[in-house]
Amino acid sequence: MIYLDNAATAGTRPQKVKEAVMNAMENSGNPGRSSHERALNASRTVYGARKALARLLNAESPQCIAFTYNATMSLNTAIKGILSPGDHCITSVMEHNSVLRPLYELEADGLQISFAGCDDKGRLDCSGIFSSVKKNTKAIVLTHGSNLTGVVNDIRSVGRFARNNGIVFIVDAAQTAGILDIDVKDMNIDVLCFTGHKGLFGPQGTGGLYVREGIRIKPFVTGGSGTSSYDRKHPEEMPQALEAGTVNSHGLAGLAAGAEYAAENIENIRRKELELTFMFYNLVKNIDGVTVYGDFTASERCPVVSINICDYDSSEVGDVLETEFGIAVRPGAHCAPLMHKALGTSERGAVRFSFSHFNTEEEIRKAAEAVREIARQE
Ligand code: ALA
Repeated sequence: MIYLDNAATAGTRPQKVKEAVMNAMENSGNPGRSSHERALNASRTVYGARKALARLLNAESPQCIAFTYNATMSLNTAIKGILSPGDHCITSVMEHNSVLRPLYELEADGLQISFAGCDDKGRLDCSGIFSSVKKNTKAIVLTHGSNLTGVVNDIRSVGRFARNNGIVFIVDAAQTAGILDIDVKDMNIDVLCFTGHKGLFGPQGTGGLYVREGIRIKPFVTGGSGTSSYDRKHPEEMPQALEAGTVNSHGLAGLAAGAEYAAENIENIRRKELELTFMFYNLVKNIDGVTVYGDFTASERCPVVSINICDYDSSEVGDVLETEFGIAVRPGAHCAPLMHKALGTSERGAVRFSFSHFNTEEEIRKAAEAVREIARQE
């Protein structure tokens, strides 16, 4: 199979990620719950993962990193733990349902939401963010990179604006952590939500959030913390505040190895992924009947190309790509309903090809040839 669905989950993981998980499964106890050797092994593993993420994101310290099970859980934690009824929040039409649905839930209880729009290439209208600020604006929630178009937002400008206006800046880095440079200090990010299983090469069921020192998030899960057991209240200090119950230390062993791999190779990863992305884009963009979505003029983008072919439904194309050509992609709505609406693709969705630096030029050529063949059969 040619796996071009890396924006959904990494198709290939470095060998050391798998070895780290296996080693943790054989040698780990429960992290932070005892002082015997296996418990300490697990604690060291989890701390190692915190350190790796803190280094990758340039966080103040490993304590600023709390682990969850995916970006969705991180975003729910941040959104529901920071925003209250009566607050105003600014977000964008580029967001994934992991941002939209928690916001809609809060809206039913009295949260006010403003949406910044985008142009026909899926580029964010930043002025829509800046002009929406009200007296009660508490947070801006913004994706770093669109999972549908691959467009990357100017996080640095929005971060500066948010900090200058005393607004909490929450960033969804599901599609960018491990792929693009992220410096939470330099970008004035208050909370950054990431998943482990995409650009960080970790196992599914790993993810987390960076929380800037001084930002308080009310936890929506409380319980065992391994410390202060006689207190009725869950600890407020990071990272325990956001980590009730046993964390996935086996998975985090893999995430630590994956994040280290990403940090060591990020230049090569980005270069190769951009090369493959543009190679595919250039091979398909002029095929009769092919529509490509998104902006390909920016110097930075996610390794994603979404297209439609003639008037076929995207799911139909996804099926043909798999059954006739052995190519795995993601068709449909990509949990990004407002972005599809903005592109005019709500009805049939789009066919998303997403690349990893583990893919080869030969795979890209075959995928482009498959697109040409499907378009020719029309
Ligand atoms: N959010 C993931 C995607 O875009 C699953 O495919």
